[in-house]
Amino acid sequence: MKRMVVVGTQWGDEGKGKITDYLAQKADVVVRYQGGNNAGHTVVIKGEKHSLHLLPSGILSETIENVMANGMVINPKAFVDEIKTIKTPFKLSISDRAHIVLPYHPELDKAYEKHKGDEKIGTTHKGIGPAYTDKAARIGIRVSTFIHKERFYKELKELVEQKNFELSHYDHPNVDFESIYQEYRSYADVMAPYVKDTSVYLNQLIEQDKRILFEGAQGVLLCLDHGTYPYVTSSSPTASSVPLNSGIAPWLVEGAIGVTKAYTTRVGSGPMPSEILGDLAHYIREVGREYGTTTGRPRRIGWLDTVILRHTKRVSGLSYLAVTLLDVLTGIDELKIVTHYELNGKEIDRIPADIEDFMQAKPVYITLPGWKEDITKVTSWEELPIHAKEYLKKIESLVGVPIGMFSVGPDRDQTIMVTNFFE
Ligand code: GDP
Ligand code: IMO
Ligand code: MG
Repeated sequence: MKRMVVVGTQWGDEGKGKITDYLAQKADVVVRYQGGNNAGHTVVIKGEKHSLHLLPSGILSETIENVMANGMVINPKAFVDEIKTIKTPFKLSISDRAHIVLPYHPELDKAYEKHKGDEKIGTTHKGIGPAYTDKAARIGIRVSTFIHKERFYKELKELVEQKNFELSHYDHPNVDFESIYQEYRSYADVMAPYVKDTSVYLNQLIEQDKRILFEGAQGVLLCLDHGTYPYVTSSSPTASSVPLNSGIAPWLVEGAIGVTKAYTTRVGSGPMPSEILGDLAHYIREVGREYGTTTGRPRRIGWLDTVILRHTKRVSGLSYLAVTLLDVLTGIDELKIVTHYELNGKEIDRIPADIEDFMQAKPVYITLPGWKEDITKVTSWEELPIHAKEYLKKIESLVGVPIGMFSVGPDRDQTIMVTNFFE
């Protein structure tokens, strides 16, 4: 396969950045196609850690073409701050059709969340929902307008008036048109040289037979359509979102790598049937350093849930699994895996659409023996302890997707290919 998408199969933070960076060593192009700086993708190369929020995970390689496609929402200030952190030369294109996140979007995000009280989504407060809302309402500002001085002035002026009206309704401080315009004009100047019609560009690269990785942000359970609505983000991280959000034909995407944590985590509110509380959750959180890359919030911890993985396989499509953070489970005597749920006394193998029903769903587990051996230096499938192999094999058979790779530590080197699917 030459054009593959890296999909988060759970609630985000599965290690998509790490897997994209690893596979990107064989790629020509890396494309981010949805989300914004709500994402936090960690790449560790020879002990050096990089946190990426907007930039595709190929940005650390001088030879890779990086594309921020039309489906993204881009905060220009965050973009300018982030490119300053990249110390090596890079290649980057930004879609003229991507939408811009402006200061009133995070303010509205905070105001809505405060208003929701106990029922808040637990967003990242980056203004992602309000920016996609403006896109759907056809009042968003696209990159092509943003880099055009007069058009940006006119549209921003009208929008600030409208947004301040809404912010006042929530008793939230207003934003100031003049200062936003002056500040953001300078960001537009930084962005402008990278802007192009990335659909035209990507299709040219495809004609040249380039190897392309599409890097999803978030995870399928946070998908606006197929996630645990309303506790979701405002875009779709599935494989099927790639063509629409990057401007290519659906049949040009040849396969999907489902990045799956060896257990489950979630940041923010909403149901998580296999959630673990207490000492074991604390232990896994500390060993796995399970704190948000974007917000620093402690992540909720749960056992691996294969109902969720089969849901992801069905709604997105998965060719191979990349199982990450396997090393974090070392030393735990017994490991549980969710096989299905029980709802109102009946066995179910799907996620109920109604969130109240999903909250009632009781997970049913199987238990497997753990392993004690340090696996962080393992370099092949054969070197894994027998119980780690059995754990992975069980995931493979319960999900019905082959394990293409697995990872035993945060570093690029701690990644093991089982099958060479990306050639
Ligand atoms: P993403 O949002 O899917 O790119 O994932 P994040 O970067 O937000 O979170 C994954 C975290 O796990 C990061 O801190 C990674 O450095 C770390 N990580 C990735 N793979 C492994 C692994 O196999 N073992 C361990 N211990 N950490 C890993
Ligand atoms: P990466 O790409 C984990 C979650 C938030 C919240 C919900 C909505 O690093 O995997 P939003 O700010 O998008 O409106 O928040 O989605 N969320 C993520 N959780 N990883 C992410 O990205 C996330 N991006 C959003 O915590 O529950
Ligand atoms: Mg993350």
